[in-house]
Parts: sequence; C-alpha cells; structure tokens
Amino acid sequence: MVLQTRILPFDADSIAEAARVVLSGEPVAVPTETVYGLAADATNASAVARIYEAKGRPSFNPLIIHVANIEVAERIGEFCDFARKLAEEHWPGPLTLVVPRRENAGIASLATAGLQSVGLRVPNHPAMQALLQATGRPLAAPSANASGTISPTRAEHVARSLSGRIALIIDGGPTERGLESTIVAATDGELRLLRPGPIQLQAETAFSGRIEAPGQMASHYAPAKPLRLNATSANEGEYMIGFGAIQGESNLSPSGSLTEAAARLFDLLHEADSSSKARIAIAPVTNEGLGIAINDRLRRAAAA
Ligand code: TXA
Ligand code: MG
Repeated sequence: MVLQTRILPFDADSIAEAARVVLSGEPVAVPTETVYGLAADATNASAVARIYEAKGRPSFNPLIIHVANIEVAERIGEFCDFARKLAEEHWPGPLTLVVPRRENAGIASLATAGLQSVGLRVPNHPAMQALLQATGRPLAAPSANASGTISPTRAEHVARSLSGRIALIIDGGPTERGLESTIVAATDGELRLLRPGPIQLQAETAFSGRIEAPGQMASHYAPAKPLRLNATSANEGEYMIGFGAIQGESNLSPSGSLTEAAARLFDLLHEADSSSKARIAIAPVTNEGLGIAINDRLRRAAAA
C-alpha cells in the first residue's frame, strides 16, 4: 500500500488531525523527547499491525506503550514499590518500565508480542502528550524508522525512512534527547536494566548489572554504511565524526559534552550516511554516564 505522506507542523490543528488518523486505525509519526515515535492505538490490534507493516519489522518485537500519566499506566501494568518509585521520580520522561501486564486492560496482545509483561512510558513532549489527550488511548510507539535503520531525531529522518508508508508526520523540530528511553524491567521483585538511555539510575538501585536487550538485533541501530569505532582520524573514503578534541567533518560535541553528543548522535549518523563517502569512522566516546548508552548504540550500529 502506497500512501501519500503529509508533514504538518506541530499545532492544535495538526494534533486534531493526527488523533483522527490514529482513531481510524492508522499510525502517525510524532516527536517525543527521545526520538520520533510511530504511534498507533494500542487497543486496536490491526492499528498495531500497521506499525509493523510500515516499519517492515521482520518480527513482532514488543512495543512501548505510551500513556498520559502514572494512573493510566497502573491500570495497564502492575507496579511494585521499586517500579512506582522510579515512575514517580522520572515520569514524565525518557524512562520505560517493563512490568507485569494486567489482563483485560484492553492492550492488543500484538503490541506486547504476546508477553505477560508490558513496557510503559509517560513521555515528556507536548506533541506526544497532546496526541495522548486527544485520542484518549494508550499509544504503542516504536521509533519511527524502517526496521534496522537509525532512529529518527527529526521529521526529515522520518520522511526519508517512511515516506509512502505512513499517512502523517507531525514536525516538532529536532528531539531534545536524541537517544531512546532507558528501559528497566521490574517484573520479578528485582530491577534489570534492559537498555541504557538518557536516564542513568542510581548505583543504589538494586540492579543485577546485566544489560539485556530482548528483541533487539545487534544491528538495530545501523546506518547503511560500514562504521568504524574508536577512530582517531579518517582513513581514505571515510566520513569522520569527531568528539571533543578529535576532529572530523562533524563533531558530536566539540566541548566533549556527553549530553550534547547523545542529542546529536543519530543526526550525525544520518548526515554521514547521506554523505558522498562510502564509509563512516567515529571518534571514541567516554564510556561513563550517558556515554554508556551512546557506546551501546554505536556497537549495534557497527555490528551491522
Ligand atoms: O524512546 C523510546 O523509547 C522510543 C520513543 C518513541 O518512545 N521508542 C522506542 O521503541 O525506542 P522501540 O520499539 O524502538 O524499542 C522498544 C524496546 C524494544 O527493544 C523491546 O525489546 C523493548 O522495548 N520492550 C518493550 N516491551 C517490552 C517487554 N514487555 N519486555 C521486554 N522488552 C520490551
Ligand atoms: Mg527502534
């Protein structure tokens, strides 16, 4: 099915239009504070199926369910004390909590890939919040890019990846965080970090220390071109992405700020991917704090 993809600026009219599209069972691309999401009514199995179809996902990975607030989240999932504490601390914000799913909460089983758990997030972006209010539905939303490609941090990235496959993109400008949410599972009385992200959890939180990424292929965040990590300078034919004092055609953060680097990471990978160079090299990024999530994404991108 080839659709004509409209791009509308974020305002009240376009949110009303996006809500109409969502309630008709079609996904729409909408910015969140992390990356652009491809949002569909999580209570409508065929709308959720349209997400997988538009993304060309090879398998049904469980999707993150976005909700307006913690009360709605607690109607869908069961929060232990640990989970509730994290939710109260970090929501709205870039934290996804995987908790046991309540039966009869109306979430399509396709959205959770048939699992007994559910990933929930209260996003902190006015466009996604407005869409949640306008539809009154929980919204399943993976990143709004074709499967296996770099997550979109701008409406143009979404358009490049999904034009013809989705009806509508809400353009809210570049996303603030640039990295997908931190995912923490609280399903069996302990917390497990499933995906590092913008929120770094306190060391005192009882983590097992493992980093898992269920349903994530190693190449999940891949640019189309080969990527060389920890480069100190470009080889012949490489587009160099610098960091700090290591120069390149572009730089994640000339001042060495990890926050800035995270926000620009996917942007610069997109830029490198569409350059005339055949390959990409990237400078080493400090492996602490937000740098842990950045390096996780880079390793996946390089594994493609
Ligand atoms: O920042 C984000 O999280 C963005 C924005 C749009 O909110 N969304 C996002 O979704 O990154 P996606 O589909 O690209 O990644 C969702 C990840 C998957 O890797 C999946 O394995 C994990 O969340 N996940 C979701 N529900 C889960 C569950 N019940 N159990 C384990 N993992 C789950
Ligand atoms: Mg994704």
